[in-house]
Amino acid sequence: MCGIIGVTGTGPVVSRLIDSLKRLEYRGYDSAGIAVQSEGRIERRRAKGKIRELEAVLAAEPVAGTVGIGHTRWATHGAPTTTNAHPHKAGRVCLVHNGIIENFAELKAEMEAEGRVFESQTDTEVVAHLLDHKLAAGMAPLDAFKATLDRLTGAYALAVLIEGEDELILGARRGSPLVVGWGEGEMYLGSDALAVGPFTQKISYLEEGDFVAVTRTGARMFDASGRPADRAVVQVSASSALVEKGEYRHFMEKEIHEQPDSVQHTLSEYLDLVSGKAKVQAVDFAALSRIQIVACGTAFYAAQIGRYAFEKYAGLPCDVEIASEFRYRDPALSPGTLAVAVSQSGETADTLAGLKWCKAQGLKTAAVVNVHTSSMAREAEILWPTHAGPEIGVASTKAFTAQVAALLSLAVAAGVARGRIDAVQEAELVKALFEAPRLIAEALQMDAGIHALTLDLAKARDVLFLGRGPMFPLAMEGALKLKEISYIHAEGYAAGELKHGPIALIDEATPTVALAPLDDLFEKTASNLQEVAARGGPVIMITPETAPALHGAGVRRVHAPDCPALIAPLVYAVPMQLLAYYTAVQKGTDVDQPRNLAKSVTVE
Ligand code: F6R
Repeated sequence: MCGIIGVTGTGPVVSRLIDSLKRLEYRGYDSAGIAVQSEGRIERRRAKGKIRELEAVLAAEPVAGTVGIGHTRWATHGAPTTTNAHPHKAGRVCLVHNGIIENFAELKAEMEAEGRVFESQTDTEVVAHLLDHKLAAGMAPLDAFKATLDRLTGAYALAVLIEGEDELILGARRGSPLVVGWGEGEMYLGSDALAVGPFTQKISYLEEGDFVAVTRTGARMFDASGRPADRAVVQVSASSALVEKGEYRHFMEKEIHEQPDSVQHTLSEYLDLVSGKAKVQAVDFAALSRIQIVACGTAFYAAQIGRYAFEKYAGLPCDVEIASEFRYRDPALSPGTLAVAVSQSGETADTLAGLKWCKAQGLKTAAVVNVHTSSMAREAEILWPTHAGPEIGVASTKAFTAQVAALLSLAVAAGVARGRIDAVQEAELVKALFEAPRLIAEALQMDAGIHALTLDLAKARDVLFLGRGPMFPLAMEGALKLKEISYIHAEGYAAGELKHGPIALIDEATPTVALAPLDDLFEKTASNLQEVAARGGPVIMITPETAPALHGAGVRRVHAPDCPALIAPLVYAVPMQLLAYYTAVQKGTDVDQPRNLAKSVTVE
């Protein structure tokens, strides 16, 4: 999760870029850099570390210009060195990037075959080369930019300078956020409203796939297919953009849409795409005999998804228990067990008590927490952070997927350490995990289809959620989301368990939501759904377009992106969240602060 700013105007921009980068430092501070254009020449300055290091470089070697871009980096690919710091330059092009270019290795090989030489280990530099290559072939800037974007797989926000294009900044957004800021004779591009906050409160939020040409007098915006697009200018209060809803109606909606970023940021804590390796060193997984996870609510479901992965990929036995039960039942724990607390807040009383109890028994302890200064973070020997950022909506969304992303990464690391995953499999699994931000962004595009379904769902009194494998805990999470914000009674079941009782609930008025990725359990889930449809129960099937159709009336499908099995829980979490969200909006409930709930439960 990096921060981006671009300024084009008539006055000097360097101090404006620095002002903005300071506000963006919360998005990462491994390195920082700026590039400015003056009289047809681009100059850049970069430094490892915080913005103050960059300021020192600028004091020693000043630059000036009336158009510029800046970046503060949270290293994902390539170590946090000055060479890997943004902006990256190739020929006439200089650019900054937030996100992941998944196919960078293939594109880099293509550019190297053209004789191009790379100076960094980043995934970003290839974008500069691709664009410069097209410009050198005679294409106009905007056409060359569109053609470059069409070659990229992954998630990105980009801001680009081109030598000789005096007042132009090109920008694009897919999966990572980018806004256009409107000033008086000056225009801006930034990661969020906070980035452009010192200069303007008039913002246009770019939509998924949009790209834009910004000059000092305005911005021309285009949608993903290259058609001109009109994006509304809205007025925001910049002072607290971090904790404001921006373009969204509710914090929950905003937080659902932040997941490509928050998942990427969390994955990057544990994995390195360039080397294709897991980088978890805090614990010797090979020496462990068992993992005992304690958690509550949504974190408990994330932990259960983690359990499937620890056992499947690492052969490491894993128990997951609701903390309020665990702490009072005198559990028998074996030596060699790692106790792990999973918690967004790091303050939940029962989870904290479970963690302390394990520590008192002499077990090694770890905490997967989103608040890195919390009680659990301080209590546990090992801190495994999630990077979801502040979560304001009481119903957890981005903290959940960040927990799942961390646990899946840790399971892969454990598999490697225990000799269950060889280097080739490790590289494949790491690559699959890094596809998640893009596929989550694709899943966010399901919202129109999901919204249509919720017109009926909002009338239901009871809803069943079904899934198999890791989709079972996700079904329970889907049911929890629906009940907590729409107040509709919902239950999540293992699909195979249906005929052992819950099938008695099926009638025309009880919808069943099924999570059916096209994995090796698909046929089994499909048979269970057939049993529901045969009894007249309405079925909403969340499944890829390529999945075989079910027979029978009353089966409605919403198509989810095809994805590797490992990351299906991350991708399918999105339609679950959207389903709950739109149903609640339909019912007019208080989405962000549902009745009777609190964000951090510090009582038993
Ligand atoms: C539901 C939700 C809760 C929390 C639970 C644990 O949407 O957010 O179920 O997951 O109260 O909270 P943390 O993760 O802070 O320990």
